[in-house]
Amino acid sequence: MEKLKIEGGYPLNGVVRITGAKNAVLGLIPAAVLCGCVNTLDNVPDIDDVDQIVSILESLGANISRKKDLLIIDTRDQISYDCSPYEEEIGAMRASYYLLGALLGRYHKAIVPLPGGCAIGDRPIDQHIKGFEALGASVSIKHGQVMMEADELVGTDIYLDVVSVGATINIMLAAVLAKGVTTIENVAKEPHIVDVANFLNLMGAKIKGAGTDTIRIKGVDHLHGCEYSVVPDQITAGTYMMAAAATGGNVLIKNVIPRHMDAVSAKLKEMGADITSEGDGLRVIGPEHLKCCRVKTLPYPGFPTDLQQPMAVLMTIADGNSIINESIFESRFKYVDQLRKMGADITINGRVASIVGVEKLSATRIAATDLRAGAAMVVAGLVADGTTTVSNVHFIDRGYENLEENLRSLGAKIERVDV
Ligand code: UD1
Repeated sequence: MEKLKIEGGYPLNGVVRITGAKNAVLGLIPAAVLCGCVNTLDNVPDIDDVDQIVSILESLGANISRKKDLLIIDTRDQISYDCSPYEEEIGAMRASYYLLGALLGRYHKAIVPLPGGCAIGDRPIDQHIKGFEALGASVSIKHGQVMMEADELVGTDIYLDVVSVGATINIMLAAVLAKGVTTIENVAKEPHIVDVANFLNLMGAKIKGAGTDTIRIKGVDHLHGCEYSVVPDQITAGTYMMAAAATGGNVLIKNVIPRHMDAVSAKLKEMGADITSEGDGLRVIGPEHLKCCRVKTLPYPGFPTDLQQPMAVLMTIADGNSIINESIFESRFKYVDQLRKMGADITINGRVASIVGVEKLSATRIAATDLRAGAAMVVAGLVADGTTTVSNVHFIDRGYENLEENLRSLGAKIERVDV
């Protein structure tokens, strides 16, 4: 079992380059199935979730090769629409649900085990299914498998009852090859929604409105191969911004789209950090003392729920009383017990965390309870007094490429140890 050992108290200084976005590439790889041709993605992060989706697609019949951050996906051969033999692998990740839209779109048939992912609250897929049914698929769930079949897929108007990233992308995937026009209302607007739409359009799809509340898709008969570069990871960038601010460091975070970081930058500035744009980078200079603030997680362009956990760490050492209102996932405070072990003063009341800043966190043994909580534990270790060990590192490896190498290059005292 591997753990991260972190000696806290060293400000981060230097330059870090952000990889392509996990949540984008996990939509782009299944999207490539739709065209039945060869696609090349670059800026692909080297993370466990990418390995996992690649391995599932290879098992289904795709030929995929990787050269550094290039991924070449060949789906010319028949891909199996029956994913039931891979229940364990598919159940280990959330984004495997994109196989539903991609396989339904290409074959009008799909059998896909229900997805897994971080245990952060109720994560139904009713809106995905509502969209598939509206396009003409019959859908049933038996023995943990979603089974779908359609004679043909026909465009229609779909209104999402909740703003869902997964449902928005999945319905787009199913609709690009459908007959006629599909309109999806009340869609998510995250940068990775726009990224998947851009990739599909480069393959010949006709999607308009990605990044607004309404997406309109005019079905086409076929798609063709293309080369596409994955959008920079907004969540990874935010994690490094917070680590820089928390440690009172001075870090240039390169390969970001500064506009994607506006909600995070605004809050870090409120807490006293100095943030400036430098080309495709953001320089974050942390203050001597962080100030308290209030954060409510919201769909993009609001403050991302995936950065709520690292943000909480900053609040534990900020002057005054900070508040987090988690409006997306009701169980996303499981990690606070770990921070309490370090001396944090946090009170949870339903979806609201009230955090009274303490002088310092004190190092101890803590565990990642999920992927983003893992990143938060690392930030906690960086600011704590003494040596922290973080277990369940496998959660962090799902979504962060070379986290400890990058942090070490910025001056952190962090190493991976085998226990
Ligand atoms: C995706 C991201 C995850 C991020 C989340 C919110 C991936 C692989 N994961 O997760 O990192 O935290 O977006 O930005 O991209 N909901 C329903 N019915 C549905 C679908 C969703 O009620 O059919 C609800 C969920 O319970 C949640 C909210 O909608 O309260 C948002 O969920 P959604 O945007 O779908 O999140 P995921 O796609 O699971």
